[in-house]
Amino acid sequence: MSQLNKFKRYTITSALPYANGPLHIGHLAGAYLPADIFVRYLRLKKKDVVYICGSDEHGAAITIKAKKEDTTPQAIIDKYHSQIKKSFEEFGISFDFYHRTSSAIHHDLSQEFFLNLYEKDEFIEKYSDQYFDEDYQQFLADRYITGTCPNCGYGNAYGDQCENCGTSLNPTDLINPISTLSGKPPVLKPTKHWYLPLDKYQPWLEKWIDTKEGEWKVNVFGQCKSWLKSGLQPRSMTRDLDWGIDVPLDEAKGKKLYVWMDAPIGYISATKQWALDNGRDWKLYWKKQEKEEDDTCLIHFIGKDNIVFHCIIFPAILHAHGEYVLPQNVPANEFLNLEGEKLSTSRNHAVWLHEYLEEFPGKQDELRYVLTSILPETSDSEFTWKDYQARVNNELVAILGNFVNRVMILMHKFFDGKVESAGHGNIKLNDDSINTDLGRFYDELERSLETYKFRQGLQTVMEIARLGNRYLTEKEPWKTIKTNPDDARLALHNSLILIGHLASCLQPFLPVTAAKILDMLNWPAEQIGFEEAMVFDNGHQLNPAALLFEKVEDEVIAFQMEKLAAKKLAALPAQSATLVPAKEDINYEAFAAMDIRIGTITAAEKVAKTKKLLKLTIDTGIDERTVVSGIAEHYEPEAIIGKKVSILVNLEPREIKGIASQGMILMAEDGDGKLTFVSPDDDLHNGSVVR
Ligand code: MF3
Ligand code: ZN
Repeated sequence: MSQLNKFKRYTITSALPYANGPLHIGHLAGAYLPADIFVRYLRLKKKDVVYICGSDEHGAAITIKAKKEDTTPQAIIDKYHSQIKKSFEEFGISFDFYHRTSSAIHHDLSQEFFLNLYEKDEFIEKYSDQYFDEDYQQFLADRYITGTCPNCGYGNAYGDQCENCGTSLNPTDLINPISTLSGKPPVLKPTKHWYLPLDKYQPWLEKWIDTKEGEWKVNVFGQCKSWLKSGLQPRSMTRDLDWGIDVPLDEAKGKKLYVWMDAPIGYISATKQWALDNGRDWKLYWKKQEKEEDDTCLIHFIGKDNIVFHCIIFPAILHAHGEYVLPQNVPANEFLNLEGEKLSTSRNHAVWLHEYLEEFPGKQDELRYVLTSILPETSDSEFTWKDYQARVNNELVAILGNFVNRVMILMHKFFDGKVESAGHGNIKLNDDSINTDLGRFYDELERSLETYKFRQGLQTVMEIARLGNRYLTEKEPWKTIKTNPDDARLALHNSLILIGHLASCLQPFLPVTAAKILDMLNWPAEQIGFEEAMVFDNGHQLNPAALLFEKVEDEVIAFQMEKLAAKKLAALPAQSATLVPAKEDINYEAFAAMDIRIGTITAAEKVAKTKKLLKLTIDTGIDERTVVSGIAEHYEPEAIIGKKVSILVNLEPREIKGIASQGMILMAEDGDGKLTFVSPDDDLHNGSVVR
């Protein structure tokens, strides 16, 4: 085991999902399936590992949902915590412990962490002006404020993050902020908070992150470097909120811990509870040991939107505390899309796990297989129902199921399911070429899994099944049984041993299928290790053949696709109503003050080192000017040259990424963040006035 092999213990975590809604395939593909495969692999190698997760039950994600459903945060977390937990169990996500952050042990530990840092004088205490909703008489959580992103111009950015360009923000960074409670612009009011001095830790963080170059995934390492490059700012670890963990200070009555301070500590508190319940020592799995070589290997599996919290903020907290190990790796995944579009809870554009389980009972492994085949490991990837059908039918049924089934049927037909040879002793693999291939597959599989390349790992396992099919075709035991029965027997015995290896390697990926195969072989699962020679006692009796996979029919796929389309339609009206709250009335003068013209894009190019920005040259009829616009993810530069657009020409010039931007291109945006130009219906001269 490469780098990983030197550790005595492994602490593996998957991001704590917010208990504010059910799980969908995007969750599974992001942070859970990869971690589960990894953990099952470590267990197969007889490593000492604890796999931890739980529900994230604080923060605005919960209170916003409660408000929407007109109920209490407590009711929301109770409902979704149990639903989420059940879905994980049914998909075989093999947590050693699934906890929740509303538990007392978690509240205590989070407060203890806060006090530890407080007593060391780590926090900066300061008053700052924060947004306050006067109608509602309350300070606004970051998520309760929306406005325009100063980085990319996206109109519906949140106070903590722009979901369009990924920049992490402070609410006061937003242009034209609006309270989502009252729909009105909030006012600023002073309030005291406790800040984690990330700027102070920056040099230490830089050094530490640099040691990860080449080991961490490129996307993760790159994101960290870019945050460090733009310079870290102190971040407040407390909030004016009424849902969360109390700040344990007399002078902070009514204030709560920032959800991103408490949630990652949830990994530790969950481990504590697991240890308590199982007579284990949690400190072995979190604290630095006397000798460094005795430290646990901590690995966080997350989605890409969580990178900053796991690679910068949480490590800074652990470092400031001083007694804890730091993550060895944070193999974050990118996002999974569905049928060409982003997964969206609000538009109900998702494949929900609890619905899949109802409609495809007993077919968890089929979904695990398809999702593992398309994991967004290095870039966003896409789930489609057609692809699901193709992979199940052409790979699981035609390759894997077919090989196992043929061998089992023939063994029963010719030898009554008895693994028996004329000679004495055990029955081992007896084919040099298969032996060599197997050795190579094991090496490849190990290398893939230890570098978090689970897609590739699964491909390698399927190679074993392909090899088996080729071997059978070549040996034709159904023919040789008549001419040379010993040859047929040997071919089938070798195939059975190959099936045993297949089952062993499949365990991390498709646990139910692996168990079914082992059961057919009449082989106790506990006896199976990784890359252990497989031998049958002479006379070993196999169990009857059972079908592993069924073909997915066209109707089933058509039904799923119609269902998605119908859901989307149903979600539309409600969604457009809640899209962006209406703004306050303005007078005609305010409107007339805007000078909007029709212009033509005459040149367009990407702004270097940004993902979202295009530098446009616009012929406005009155002049030719440069405008920087946050549309690079929606339009290719070449495709928009010659396009007629509307442009606000009298917006005061702003400098964006060192480019003087004069004016703003008007864009229409749907609830999904999709942008289109606001273009005239007919061909008009440049300079035509919009009013
Ligand atoms: N609940 C967060 C999300 O879904 C993830 C929390 S991960 C933890 O984005 F580290 F904070 F636990
Ligand atoms: Zn942005």
